[in-house]
Amino acid sequence: MDIVILDNSEQVAQEAASMVAGLLRATPSAVLGLPTGQTPRAMYQALVREHRENGLSFSDVTTFNLDEYVGLEPGSPQSYRAYMQRELFDHVDIDPDNTFLPECPPGADPRTVGPAYEAAIARRGGIDLQVLGVGVNGHIGFNEPASSLASRTRIKTLTRETIEVNRPLFDDPSKQPQLAITMGIATITEAREILLLATGESKADAVHRLVEGPVSARCPASILQMHEKVTVLLDEPAAAQLELRDYYDWVAAQKRALLDKFGAPR
Ligand code: GLP
Repeated sequence: MDIVILDNSEQVAQEAASMVAGLLRATPSAVLGLPTGQTPRAMYQALVREHRENGLSFSDVTTFNLDEYVGLEPGSPQSYRAYMQRELFDHVDIDPDNTFLPECPPGADPRTVGPAYEAAIARRGGIDLQVLGVGVNGHIGFNEPASSLASRTRIKTLTRETIEVNRPLFDDPSKQPQLAITMGIATITEAREILLLATGESKADAVHRLVEGPVSARCPASILQMHEKVTVLLDEPAAAQLELRDYYDWVAAQKRALLDKFGAPR
């Protein structure tokens, strides 16, 4: 794991956007896995700026979102589809036909969504870069604690804690879904590269467990320790509980020295 600790959340957003932009410039037809939530919003804003000011194109990009609530009306402002339209898709040149979420409108059978989503990801050749946030309980996507580490896209019952954390997003709490469809943990870890963002003090415990704890379904994000190419981008408050902090800083210094001497790796 590459642990990168930056001064503040704005720097995390900038660095994340520059990693995504770097991939899209090298591979204009890249397939991105994308998260929702508060954490990535500044990254999306930075990507929109990059599109407007520096011509970053999304015209050949395909996106697969991590998750979506079950049973929201199409166009519901609380849906992750609406979030993605607001934060990114409406502001860049992406082809709407290339944007996928595991949507399950009222009346649709949620059990059919997962296999169809897995097939769509496979048809597009798999995910090149999966961007992730992390829940305060260590979830990735909506893979709550005790999710199978081998899980695929499926229905997930949200924990009471997750429902509570996301409650402010719903004007009418009685309309807040208790079920979601989420990429599974195996789906996520099949991405060729993973970039996890965490900012703020509320994530410090989850970050400690995901980076330094045992690999366990108790903290689904800890599975990332088994992936070959993961970058964890943190601000100072999110990094506050890391026990090997000195070592991560030392590694970062060594990397900078190599970069200065030999340039960016190919
Ligand atoms: C949500 C989403 C996750 C997200 C996480 C953290 O419930 N399902 O994909 O990464 O929780 O969200 P936030 O960035 O708002 O803290």
